[in-house]
Amino acid sequence: MNERMTMTTATAALPDRQPDTQTVTAVRHWTDQLFSFRVTRPASLRFRSGEFVMIGLPGDPDPKTGRAKPLLRAYSIASPSWDDELEFYSIKVPDGPLTSRLQNIEVGDQIILRPKPVGTLVHDALLPGKRLWFFATGTGIAPFASLIREPQTYEDYDQVILTHTCRDVADLAYGRELVEALEDDPLIGELVDDKLLYYPTTTRESSARMGRVTDRLRSGEIFTDLGIMPISPQTDRAMVCGSMGLNTDLKAILEGFGLREGANSDPAEYVVEKAFVG
Ligand code: A2P
Repeated sequence: MNERMTMTTATAALPDRQPDTQTVTAVRHWTDQLFSFRVTRPASLRFRSGEFVMIGLPGDPDPKTGRAKPLLRAYSIASPSWDDELEFYSIKVPDGPLTSRLQNIEVGDQIILRPKPVGTLVHDALLPGKRLWFFATGTGIAPFASLIREPQTYEDYDQVILTHTCRDVADLAYGRELVEALEDDPLIGELVDDKLLYYPTTTRESSARMGRVTDRLRSGEIFTDLGIMPISPQTDRAMVCGSMGLNTDLKAILEGFGLREGANSDPAEYVVEKAFVG
């Protein structure tokens, strides 16, 4: 039997095989609007911390053809590249076609995952520097949840600053817990040491630090609060992930400090990606 025949036989024997399906291994609801979940990782999936993939659920069958088109959205992988499983962090949009259903997933359920990781929030898109800033609003923290658990982040930089702006204190819990767990992490706890600074702010509910991170950058308050020098193109690199508004405002602020936008093909001083919802 030649190779071609073997392959044909194997494919024909598995007519219902769904190569892009993964099993849910954990689900955690953080608030009535936010949840995270973990799924099995396809053995063949390699990705760089900070990248995103398309995930989703089977859609409703088309009344005419009877075929179900998958309902897919781009989601940042929130787990680091070395993790055995994949983690995602999501908002629950009540009338969102995907998240209204995805929020009901349970351990053992199947989700669709297209194993083609892409994205600009990767180390390769930045030139070498001394300090790395992660600016997130809401679920925009997901790619940074991956990158703060990535050893390369601490090997390449002397200091790492994660800012997270949310409306309410409870919206910060996912990020806060990750940061707190890092020190004791057997794999990268030692590397992180005291390199990571965490700067959460809330804009609606009162907390220790109120206001948008953008205002605190413009006023210089953030540098005073953290006891560090202002942003400079010689030393600082930045990644931004949030709403269109945050991304536009931060681009202007970072350009004002003299940083230029980079890309995988043309590394520079900062990179931006929109946080995905739906
Ligand atoms: P604010 O409450 O002042 O709008 P959302 O829940 O709407 O996605 O927003 C998440 C967080 O991002 C909120 O705290 C919100 O602040 C903040 N935010 C929204 N737009 C901007 C922006 N242009 N710059 C900084 N923070 C922003």
